Parts: sequence; structure tokens; C-alpha cells
Amino acid sequence: MSDLISNLEKLGDEFGTVIAPLADEQAIRAAQAQFLGKKGKVSELMKELGKLPPAERPLVGAAANKVKATIEELTAARLNELAQIVARADLARSVDVTLPARPVGGGHLHLLSQVRLEAVQIFAELGFVMAEGPQIDTDWNNFEALALPKEHPARDMQDTFYISPEIVLRTHTSPVQVRTMLTQEPPIRIIAPGHVYRRDDDPTHSPMFTQLEGLAVDTDISFSDLKGTLLHFVKRFFQRDLAIRLRPSYFPFVEPGAEVDMQCSFCGGSGCRLCKFTGWIEIGGAGMVDPDVFANCRIDSERYTGFAFGMGLERMAMLRHNVTDIKFYYEGDLRFLEQF
Ligand code: DAH
Repeated sequence: MSDLISNLEKLGDEFGTVIAPLADEQAIRAAQAQFLGKKGKVSELMKELGKLPPAERPLVGAAANKVKATIEELTAARLNELAQIVARADLARSVDVTLPARPVGGGHLHLLSQVRLEAVQIFAELGFVMAEGPQIDTDWNNFEALALPKEHPARDMQDTFYISPEIVLRTHTSPVQVRTMLTQEPPIRIIAPGHVYRRDDDPTHSPMFTQLEGLAVDTDISFSDLKGTLLHFVKRFFQRDLAIRLRPSYFPFVEPGAEVDMQCSFCGGSGCRLCKFTGWIEIGGAGMVDPDVFANCRIDSERYTGFAFGMGLERMAMLRHNVTDIKFYYEGDLRFLEQF
């Protein structure tokens, strides 16, 4: 019996030696389990208890309880010691509050946002008010009302993503014209920037891109107003005296319709690779609002005339900032973004 008791008592000392070098709570708890756990050293010794005469058992039991208490106390004391070491180290840390802060890089607007705001601003100076429409629109607003009925061949150039047969991701910002004319009385002057979607994907085309749509409707709007407006915009946007030209073209929603070219901003018109040695670069479409579109939008085409235009904003920014791939706008690569 006395052997057993002295062995139990030794466990207290042994535990103290084991945990003395341990410096983290997990290791200390693991060591504690090796002594007090179900298969721990204390339990192992207690298996001997059954071999003793009943009269001696209470004494051994008391010794076991004592060693258990000792181990628990040692554990708590060591953990407390460690906590104090950590707290002391924390307090000893010195912070130099006069140290200058590490610089945090300032963000800025994306090139396309800058260009969009600037373009809208230029038109605002001419009396155009910004308008917006949803990127998911009805087939009617995007096509039908703009004289592009279901089987019209011009729809081929604007294949899009269909949400349902009657709901599409808009292929151009022209439906904003329809939405505006249906809800506002002339005189109308709007400039509508926004994302548009098409089934297109190559270095100069992206399935999502940004257009800038303009519409002016009044009692005496003429083709020369259109030309003057576009010329003013190109000069202001490129800050150079660049010419524009309007080439006859077909868009179902305007009559006459035109392709808008500007003098090449790289070579100034003498011819280079960018303008394919023509001296001109296409920037959008334009024309006089077709009377059918007026009729669809409940505007009296005997009383009112109007011009409309649509331009690609990525294109404009590419020309002005020498961006060589449309994907650069959307990849989020800081090496590109930080340049502007
Ligand atoms: N919506 C046409 C397109 O995306 C561009 C366009 C052409 C817009 C002529 C117009 C316009 O407003 O009059 O291809």
C-alpha cells in the first residue's frame, strides 16, 4: 500500500517536470491528459487498488485525489504564468506613433468611366440631358419599335442573348430613344450611355461593351444639326481640329442613315495602319429619325423631326489613349488601369 501511495505522490513531481518547459496551452493540456485522462498514469496506478484489502483502499483513494488536485493546480499555475509572459511582452512592445504611415495607393475612375463622364459632359454643354435604360429590355424596345421586325435581316448583325423570346440583353443603346420618346414630349435632347451586349468576341469586339446614344427631337431639327453636333463632340473629345464625314449607310431606324467617320487621330488623315491607310476611322452610326419610329413612339412626324446617333465608347477611348485590345478594359489588370 505504501508503495502505491508513494508512487502516486511521485506523479505530482513528475508532472511538474514535464510541463515546466512547455510553452503553449495545447501542449500543457495534452500533458495533463497523459496524467489525468482515462488511460493516464493516475488511472493506471489506481488499477492496483482492487488488489488491496478494503480497509486500505480509502487511504490510497485520498492520495489519488490529492495528486489529481496537485496536477490541476500545477496546470493552472503554468497556464497563468504563460498568460503573464504574453501580457508582459505585449506591454513591452513600443510603438512609434510618429512614424509616417505606409502610403495607400489611391484609386481612381476606370478609363471607360472617365471617358463616359467626359463625353456626357460635352453633350450636356450643348443642352443634352443624360438618360438611362435597363440592360435587359424587351424585344419590342430593342428591335420592333426601331423598325427591326422579327425577320428583318439587319437583326443578324445584332444577335444577342435572349432571356426569353420577348426579353433580350439590349444590343445597343437605341432602345433608350424609344423609352424617352414614349414618356417625354418634344423638345427632346438626351445623351444615353450604357452597357450593351452582342454575340461577338475578338480583339476589337467584346460580348459586352459600352455605347453612347444621342437623340434630339424638335420642330426644326435638320441633318446639319446632326453634323454640327458630332463635329463639335469630336473636336472637344480629342482636343484637336479633326474633321468628320458622314457616309450614306443603312440603319432601319433612321432615314437617311449614315456611318460616322472621323479623321484618323493617329496620322491626322495621311494614312496609317490604324485607319487602314484611308485617313478615316469609323466611330458610330447616325441619321434622321425614321417616321416609322416616331409613329411607334406616338410622336407626330409631320410636326417633329429628329436626329439620332450611337457611338462605341471603348472605340473612342482606344483611339484617344492608344489602347490596342478591347479586353484590357475588363481584365482589371492594374498595369493597364493605373496608366489612366
Ligand atoms: N444602334 C446602332 C448600332 O448599335 C448605332 C446607331 C446607328 C445608333 C444609327 C443611332 C443611329 O442612333 O441613328 O449599331
